[in-house]
Amino acid sequence: MAVKRRDFLGMAFGGFVAAGGAISLVAMKKTWDPLPSVKAAGFTTVDLSPMEEGQLSTVTWRGKPIFILKKTAEMKKNENRDVVVGNADYAVMIGLCTHLGCIPTWTPATLQFKCACHGGEFDASGVNTFGPPPRPMDIPPFRIDGTKLVLGEEGPEYKKLVAKV
Ligand code: FES
Repeated sequence: MAVKRRDFLGMAFGGFVAAGGAISLVAMKKTWDPLPSVKAAGFTTVDLSPMEEGQLSTVTWRGKPIFILKKTAEMKKNENRDVVVGNADYAVMIGLCTHLGCIPTWTPATLQFKCACHGGEFDASGVNTFGPPPRPMDIPPFRIDGTKLVLGEEGPEYKKLVAKV
């Protein structure tokens, strides 16, 4: 009995992958995206090498928009959030407003992400600077593989950033 209870807690808090074929958990997964600490199928690999300074790319990972912004010298560095690949800094974030989940729009003129829903604003690193968003946009788990960004896998660079928060 005690073992069963431990199994359940493991599934609920950390062992989503271990749940494997349990039908009820498959159903849950559709509505509850696994925590970033859980590995699951569905990696998205993005080659960053063609990106130019100031360029914003939006890719999809597990149905969510991911913003990748190659920073320019005029964009403030953020050591707690910047993803460094080679000698370039990138801001990588889940492109959903942390207020109620709208997709903010990049505004190059002011170097901000603006959310049209309730006027929330974020800086180029995805940090909330104005309005109702309660926190910065989330950083998805990632791994750096040469010039490629592998979304969905927790590499040492991601763990380093998370440890700083
Ligand atoms: S959803 Fe973005 S400010 Fe409300």
